[in-house]
Amino acid sequence: MLILAGAAQAGPPRPLDMEVLAGTCFACHGPQGVPPAGAAEALPRLRGRPAAELLRLMRAFRQGQMPQASVMPLLMQGYDDAQMQALAQWFAQPAQPAQTAPAGGRER
Ligand code: HEC
Repeated sequence: MLILAGAAQAGPPRPLDMEVLAGTCFACHGPQGVPPAGAAEALPRLRGRPAAELLRLMRAFRQGQMPQASVMPLLMQGYDDAQMQALAQWFAQPAQPAQTAPAGGRER
């Protein structure tokens, strides 16, 4: 997947881009930001946490304020503030947002 290339593009993400933007995070943090059982120690859960907290952590990674961190400081270099805010708000939602509208208009 070449999602990182898309995530590095500047500009505020459109709603439809959120699955793609957040999809990068799924690889490590688990589908929808919920890590698989047993992985949560190394890979923190993102889903359902306060947006302000997620945003604060992401900014701290990008600004090099998390010396113990491994991959996140480098990864966050590729995200601008608008993208981080969008990600924080998206992951803060308790339920997973609809990924694709179900195909409507089923024939009767
Ligand atoms: C390559 C694996 C990987 C990817 C991809 C990844 N993360 Fe992380 N993330 C980690 C690890 C590992 C940590 C623990 C800190 C560290 O070692 O960098 C972490 C920590 C975090 C934290 C801090 C959570 C806490 O409780 O301390 C946030 C917030 C976060 N990631 C958000 C994201 C977002 C948003 C994305 C997608 C843009 C993302 N991560 C993509 C591996 C990843």
